[in-house]
Amino acid sequence: MKKRIGILTSGGDCPGLNCVIRAAVSHATRTYDWQVVGIPYSTQGLLERKTVPLSVHGWDLRGIDPLLNMGGTILGTINKGDTLDHTDEILASYEAIALDALIAIGGDGSLNIIHQLAVLGHWNLVAIPKTIDHDVACTERSIGFDTALNTIVDAINRLIFTAASHDRVMIIEVMGRTAGHLALHSGIAGGADVILIPEIPYTIKGICEHLTELRDRWQKKFAIIVVAEGISACSENADDSSCTTAKCGQGQYIAEQIANCSHQLIDTRVSVLGYIQRGGIPSALDRLTATMFGKVAVDLIAQNKYDQMLAWQNGRVATFPIQDVIDKNPSLVDPNGDLVQTARSLGIYIGE
Ligand code: F6P
Repeated sequence: MKKRIGILTSGGDCPGLNCVIRAAVSHATRTYDWQVVGIPYSTQGLLERKTVPLSVHGWDLRGIDPLLNMGGTILGTINKGDTLDHTDEILASYEAIALDALIAIGGDGSLNIIHQLAVLGHWNLVAIPKTIDHDVACTERSIGFDTALNTIVDAINRLIFTAASHDRVMIIEVMGRTAGHLALHSGIAGGADVILIPEIPYTIKGICEHLTELRDRWQKKFAIIVVAEGISACSENADDSSCTTAKCGQGQYIAEQIANCSHQLIDTRVSVLGYIQRGGIPSALDRLTATMFGKVAVDLIAQNKYDQMLAWQNGRVATFPIQDVIDKNPSLVDPNGDLVQTARSLGIYIGE
């Protein structure tokens, strides 16, 4: 049976989304001869019953396929839930725009919203995980994480020279919301001296002692500190009223605290990488994962297998019931896991 399938991107943008769209449209049209439409701005597009025809032939730029290396999403996206005040209208849209199935590419929060709609509206849904935070459960890869990780490591590679030249402590604040995956991976790969993540309590005293040891025992006069945006700013030097969580300048907070806690003069500088981490050209790994996810999503629809999220497990694409994934979200760093142990074995201060 010839199908008409929809595809949407939801939640924060990240590199690799267009690669999924490219692969899904290519496979659906070439292999199955289906029609594929994009739904702009996720639930906003559904609410407004807007669709954009997608065709592999529409993308060629004198033979170059721009979607493979284009960041962001050509469909647009939203990461607010305010369209949900119009749930009934959104539910009716699926039939109104004549969809046989829907591929939703989203993260922890947005997949939850789309899944709830799909259950209520009996939609045929296949979900694909994307997030630079890497906090979607059940999958070893999520689209966008690898590119963001490489962007951070590239930033550390640059900042380390200024740190070393000026004997400075460079503090690099990275995204991740409540999860420390980006900070932990980039800190190890970038050669950080201190990594602070939401999952592991730290002390300012511990950081200061570590910096002192670096200087006195190892004659290292500069340091790199990677701070996840979601760390708690509660320390032994702060009263409860000044405790904050994500998005409050945690890098700056650490800079101020370590300047006060040591007898040595610590010259600190803070770089908040911000949305640089969400932009740019997708890495080869993100392109590959996205391409495989796009292809398998279409195959699942061909098998009429729905309510599944694609996941990367043991070197291949696997599927999980979306509800099972949602129940396990968010997936946080295991404080006793291999990566944390590795960081400690390298002498990195990572808290308790
Ligand atoms: O979830 C991805 C993410 O980039 C987080 O790391 C960050 O905290 C958040 O989105 C920023 O979202 P917004 O686009 O709403 O500022």
